[in-house]
Amino acid sequence: MTAVIRAEQSDITTLTVEAIVNAANNSLLGGGGVDGAIHRAAGPQLLEECRTLNGCEIGDAKLTRGYGLPCKYVIHTVGPVWHGGGEGEAELLASCYRRALEIAADHGIQSIAFPSISTGVYGYPIESAARIAVQTVRAELAKRTAVKEVVFCCFSANDLAVYQQLLGQA
Ligand code: AR6
Repeated sequence: MTAVIRAEQSDITTLTVEAIVNAANNSLLGGGGVDGAIHRAAGPQLLEECRTLNGCEIGDAKLTRGYGLPCKYVIHTVGPVWHGGGEGEAELLASCYRRALEIAADHGIQSIAFPSISTGVYGYPIESAARIAVQTVRAELAKRTAVKEVVFCCFSANDLAVYQQLLGQA
């Protein structure tokens, strides 16, 4: 079966997919942006589990339960800080999407939502980040069958427009 890839504008903490992805920092101990929103909505047990994970490398991902969130799992990944594009940012960002989907596939997760990793506090330009996100997800879904639905969860109308154009839905 072909997987469905779509973009929508929403707060990722409200989505009823099986797993949501968190754009965390390498401590995995919380922060602002989507990370702060996820920890607030999940409750303190999420931080307790995160403390057992010993952080996460940039470009890698780790799984926890969702606790107070409507989703069953949170896949925490750490995107690169944008330094102008010459420090391997594109490959590290692609790796975030790839690792999150590998972990999802390993756990039989069928539906997953991504925020626009690195494009907030970490300063990655939305157009190039979204292109990498869409290309990487398409390439990974061509390899695996466990994941059947991928949602690009956009916080702003502008981000949604960028993703929809890339997905050919605009
Ligand atoms: N639902 C969906 N997307 C959201 C939400 C939400 N509730 N809140 C924000 N966004 P950012 P980064 C969007 O800054 O750039 C944290 O402090 C936001 O508009 O959350 O990867 C971590 O602890 C933007 O489009 O993540 C790290 O220190 C996108 O999510 C650092 O920020 C990512 O913005 C990570 O920075």
